[in-house]
Amino acid sequence: MPVSLIVLAAGMGTRMNSELPKVLHKVAAAPMLHHALAAGASLSPDKIVVVTGHGADEVARAAQHYDEAVETVVQDPQLGTAHAVAQAAPKLADVAGDAIVLYGDTPFIRPETLAAMLAARAEHGVVVLGFHARHPGRYGRLLTAGDRLLAIREFKDASDEERAITLCNSGVICAEARTLFSLVAEVGCDNAASEYYLTDIVELARKRGLSAGVVICDEAETMGINTRAELAAAEAAFQARARAEALDNGVTLTAPETVFFALDTHIGRDAIIGANVLFGPGVTIESGAEIKGFCHLEGCHVSRGADVGPFARLRPGAELAEDVHVGNFVEIKNAILDEGVKVGHLTYIGDADVGEFTNIGAGTVTCNYDGVMKHRTKIGKRAFIGSDTMLVAPVSVGDGALTASGSVITEDVPAEAVAIGRAKQVTKPGLATALFERLRAIKAAKGKV
Ligand code: UD1
Ligand code: MG
Repeated sequence: MPVSLIVLAAGMGTRMNSELPKVLHKVAAAPMLHHALAAGASLSPDKIVVVTGHGADEVARAAQHYDEAVETVVQDPQLGTAHAVAQAAPKLADVAGDAIVLYGDTPFIRPETLAAMLAARAEHGVVVLGFHARHPGRYGRLLTAGDRLLAIREFKDASDEERAITLCNSGVICAEARTLFSLVAEVGCDNAASEYYLTDIVELARKRGLSAGVVICDEAETMGINTRAELAAAEAAFQARARAEALDNGVTLTAPETVFFALDTHIGRDAIIGANVLFGPGVTIESGAEIKGFCHLEGCHVSRGADVGPFARLRPGAELAEDVHVGNFVEIKNAILDEGVKVGHLTYIGDADVGEFTNIGAGTVTCNYDGVMKHRTKIGKRAFIGSDTMLVAPVSVGDGALTASGSVITEDVPAEAVAIGRAKQVTKPGLATALFERLRAIKAAKGKV
């Protein structure tokens, strides 16, 4: 049965105290909107519509960055959650099957939970995701009778008795798409907030003879983010879970509490991750690779048997083949290092291709930027780049070639050649002693004055 997703993301997020739309604040290096989309994506939805409002253009760009197929609609003004859902109707006018409503600021709903909601649709016309709240605060309350959901009462409109209920509304709702849109079209705004409440569709559905049910999830999944403090708490919750999952999956974390994962970090079994490692977006570490302490990685791929760090930085487009060694104080960006390449120390390799088993000496720099454009450096197989070589791109070094230490290489080096690009050494016997004597005499003369 086809499924569509509607993600509500129009709200202002006043309490974030920010220029940035709330759903674009990041948790685990990804906008919180991407977390909601990722949970929804697990259902392989036919259509995804994100309802934008505040910062509509920026939010739409972020949604399409996640998946080009995501459609967006602008809700302006924002008159409530039912009004938000209604804006998605034209985009989903002729879809068959169910629609699930998610919030863009609620990043931790699990795929299994959404699947359970779809399954519960076999028994109920409308399925609501609820949770037992330790501190129910201002959440909407679920009014139930046995396993039936009778109504959702917003806090502002609830009686004292209703406020005493601890079973709360997460906001996630599922119904047949056509039914959902015909129900939201009936919602009015005669309530304490004068808003069009999505929650009213439960009673409206029951009036039509449709039943409503609740799926209950853990409170941690429904954690919404409204403030910077909640954003920090969400980050901590994500990292705690990601570390536990990595350990479960057979990854060694020497000091788990000091490792930070991104939403899309992939780490293979038997990889070893040292202390104080940070994964930005887009990192894959294959089985058995080792990342030593204090590394910063983003947008890179580290193959089996490779080892990186300590104190290395891999930036977007860094591709390390099997058994590559990248040592301390090395930065790699947009560069392909073939099997067995060694870059041991104090080096920048950017916009480059390095052939298998080539050795890059300490202090080597690919000078890839001329102030206006970027250029590529190509180094062949089994080459030897002497320490402190400046490779002024565009430039190439052939297979098996050698550059002398301290060279500035501005011309292509053919295969198997030696290139020396530095001033010739001049040696003056005895001059050091004479020089020091003169300096000491000058110092002594000054001391007398
Ligand atoms: C809503 C629910 C409440 C539930 C709570 C869970 C309603 C009426 N109430 O209340 O039962 O316990 O969430 O967090 O649905 N949004 C729009 N357009 C709008 C209004 C809201 O896109 O016009 C978006 C917001 O950006 C947010 C989500 O919908 O992502 C929820 O809106 P919010 O104002 O936070 O609703 P609550 O009052 O928290
Ligand atoms: Mg809210």
